[in-house]
Amino acid sequence: MSAHLKAIKITDSIYWVGAIDWAIRDFHGYATQEGSTYNAYLIIADKITLIDTVKAAFKDEMIARIASVIDPEKIDYIVSNHSEFDHSGALPATVAQVKPEKVFASKMGVKALTAHFRPDFEITAVATGDELDLGGKTLSFIETRMLHWPDSMFTYLKEDEILFSQDAFGMHLAASKLFVDEHDMRIIKWESEKYFANILLPYTGKILALLKSLGEMNLPIKMIATDHGPIWRGDDINTVLKWYSEWSTQPLYPKAVIIYDTMWGSTAKMATSIADGILSTGIEVKTLPLSGSDRSEVATEMLDSGALIVGSPTLNNQIFPSLADTLTYLKGLRPANLIGASFGSHGWSGEAIKYLNQYLTDMNVELISDGIRVQYVPDEATLRECYELGEAVGNELKKRLNHK
Ligand code: FEO
Repeated sequence: MSAHLKAIKITDSIYWVGAIDWAIRDFHGYATQEGSTYNAYLIIADKITLIDTVKAAFKDEMIARIASVIDPEKIDYIVSNHSEFDHSGALPATVAQVKPEKVFASKMGVKALTAHFRPDFEITAVATGDELDLGGKTLSFIETRMLHWPDSMFTYLKEDEILFSQDAFGMHLAASKLFVDEHDMRIIKWESEKYFANILLPYTGKILALLKSLGEMNLPIKMIATDHGPIWRGDDINTVLKWYSEWSTQPLYPKAVIIYDTMWGSTAKMATSIADGILSTGIEVKTLPLSGSDRSEVATEMLDSGALIVGSPTLNNQIFPSLADTLTYLKGLRPANLIGASFGSHGWSGEAIKYLNQYLTDMNVELISDGIRVQYVPDEATLRECYELGEAVGNELKKRLNHK
């Protein structure tokens, strides 16, 4: 591995020693157009400590960065905050190479790492409130079960006031600039929102509880060092905490998302009329044809919307495969506080509306219509009906927003 690879100093005694994955575009189904980073952090103290590792394929890159600061074999401790492969994949090979005195993980982390690797090294379990004296520095641990895996935990470095938060507050953004404040905040917000919508949305109750307990702990935090994307510091820490708090409550937003696919353009025409109807009420609309929108983009747009309108042709008595894909994905994310409706064209059977409505109902989306079905091609009267459905969606959102 190239000797040019360097660690990046983030304080006098802490270094970023992770890896930048410029190439990844599909992260287990999450479209990562901006690539990602797998962040690992090196703490220089009497007991030299590595916080997390990287994806297995990037182990040599991480070791090269560590070697730009110290001999990797001088690492005494490794803390694994999260067992998913993008952070633990390089753990066994790193342990084999540097032979640390100890490896730490949460109790559930010990179980998960054991099930992943059947390791031939011991892993010591730590729990919330446990402290680890590094000699001159102190780590304390906060388990964050189901945020987003059972094993997930935060590690807090008391003297430097750094919260190592594993996936939380992260984003998939490959970049050489290490701090959030070196980036365009519009990009930071979009990528944070996308990460939240696609990874954390099913666990909003736990996030609110965690934010509350972090507040009660009253930890001074100078930096939040996540496992993906740039590091938060200064006022940006409050910004991301506020975003997480807002997104977790899933408030009603004055925006509607329309997703659809189309075979011969009829369902697309219906989508356009529905969008026009929504717009006429002053509510923002985002129309996402699934032929050109990936499921992670849809999830992100859904996060700050109050309505989800779905359209599909009937194909072989079913919904279009792209709708089945996206709706299955969205259902797993467990969105809340949405109203919705369905629409679509068909040739001779027309089951799509029934299936779309079932998906929406399963997602706890409140249907405001039975749906609009049209045979073959919508005429002016049907397009008018679509426009009126859009108006009804917009007016219902306005009514609910006014009653908040
Ligand atoms: Fe970045 Fe849950 O792994």
